[in-house]
Amino acid sequence: MSKLTLDRILQSQGFGTRKWCRTLIADGEVSINGAVVTDHRAQIETDGLELAIFDEVWPYRAQVYIALNKPADFECSRKPSHHPGVLSILPEQFTWRDVQPVGRLDHDTTGMLLMSDDGPFIHAQSSPKRHIPKVYVATTAEPVTPELIAQLLAGVQLHDEPAPLAALTCRQLGTHSLEIVLEQGKYHQVKRMLAAAGNHCAALHRSAIGSLTLEALGLDEGEWCYLDDAQRALLAPAAIDG
Ligand code: URA
Repeated sequence: MSKLTLDRILQSQGFGTRKWCRTLIADGEVSINGAVVTDHRAQIETDGLELAIFDEVWPYRAQVYIALNKPADFECSRKPSHHPGVLSILPEQFTWRDVQPVGRLDHDTTGMLLMSDDGPFIHAQSSPKRHIPKVYVATTAEPVTPELIAQLLAGVQLHDEPAPLAALTCRQLGTHSLEIVLEQGKYHQVKRMLAAAGNHCAALHRSAIGSLTLEALGLDEGEWCYLDDAQRALLAPAAIDG
């Protein structure tokens, strides 16, 4: 159980500066569990709290964990330069509460992108020490061959890497497509590995992280959802074996 003043609660949920949150409250725009509250000093229990702001309901969340099916032509950078940033796909509150992408996908890569405002979670998910498998589907410019698969499994040497990098698993899906599972997260890793193995990546999609798949989440391109505890547990490193 934890109680906070209403203005702090609103600010923590990304509804703007404390001053602006107080204005919203004083103007009668904020309801708590169905009743308008106009005193910003009101102490409110956050467990199970449902806020309504401008009649839109927002369950209180101490932290948010989000999966987005990223479309092409969006940048993961916090300061995007050539394309809109992925945060522009989400409600503005998430920018205010400092939600960030967990790792990065290239602007032309589609698929699963995790986002959160929980620093330790972001750190743990991004840490190379955790070896979290990430599943990619690559469309290749040249046909996929058994030699290509063998090379990706054996390991290919990339510039600036001390040792060859190998796929955890790799299998052909079609004449020009393959699924590759990586547990590192090096810059442009799939594209660079394909190039080093003599092919070229024409399109790239991330279909899963750990054993959490986009398919199970039912997210179409551009859609996002909150992750619950059970879904977050599927992001664990060992879950994808087999
Ligand atoms: N590997 C790449 O080359 N690009 C991505 O966006 C992700 C992995």
